[in-house]
Amino acid sequence: MSVTKEIKKITTHTLQRMKEKGEKISMITAYDFSFAKIFDEAGIDVILVGDSASNVMAGHETTLPITLDQMIYHASSVIRGTSRSLVVVDLPFGSYQSNSKEALVSTFRIMKETGAHAIKLEGGEEVQESVKRIIAAGVPVMGHLGLTPQSIYKFGTYNVRAKEQAEAEKLRNDAKLLQEAGCFGLVLEKIPATLAKEVSESLQIPTIGIGAGKFCDGQVLVMHDMLGINTEFKPRFLRQYLNLHAEITGAVKKYIGDVKSNDFPSESEQY
Ligand code: KIV
Repeated sequence: MSVTKEIKKITTHTLQRMKEKGEKISMITAYDFSFAKIFDEAGIDVILVGDSASNVMAGHETTLPITLDQMIYHASSVIRGTSRSLVVVDLPFGSYQSNSKEALVSTFRIMKETGAHAIKLEGGEEVQESVKRIIAAGVPVMGHLGLTPQSIYKFGTYNVRAKEQAEAEKLRNDAKLLQEAGCFGLVLEKIPATLAKEVSESLQIPTIGIGAGKFCDGQVLVMHDMLGINTEFKPRFLRQYLNLHAEITGAVKKYIGDVKSNDFPSESEQY
């Protein structure tokens, strides 16, 4: 008789139930097999294969350069390391904004070539039709409002969004439209906590905040920021749980020293 371990997978329905029960949702980015496996085994609810890969994996200044092929490479690696978490993949800049057919074709590629569970895209009213078509095709969609890094050249800065009445009103409206279009959740990035609270309380679907305060239904952080791999990026909203940059630098310096002094390998480390 073969014994198989039963793993309870997180689905979009699990997230909905978590919101209803008042249980907060944990989400983190990952871009490769090894980290995805650690995060999945640690019990993270959602892994986001973010287009922040463009910054933290490829070293670009913005998220704009990353391609659909590159996102597919990252997402398929993450999926191989995941057995429980829900995996959401960003549609990258230029893969969905032309029209809803382009959005659908890009989504099909992600779903077929990676095995991911859902996609995320940025924007409100402008992407409503695409959201509806993707969901009609059976793919769960997460929205993203507030600071939307793919529009950085329109905004001009990475400052807090929706502080002014007009922008806050558009965000409230967009959040409602995305819920009506069928999104299973919404990322709210870098907006005032009071606005995030109001939006989170007014929606049935869960909100996941980054720099949007404690009243969102969950939180997301970029793994390189929360693990302290990046040293330059220290926004107020970031809680850094490790200083991996210092840890890794220390370990590599020690290794270099051991090689130079012929301490490594020792007799017990050779054949
Ligand atoms: O790409 C990303 O990492 C994101 C998060 C910041 C939400 O979209």
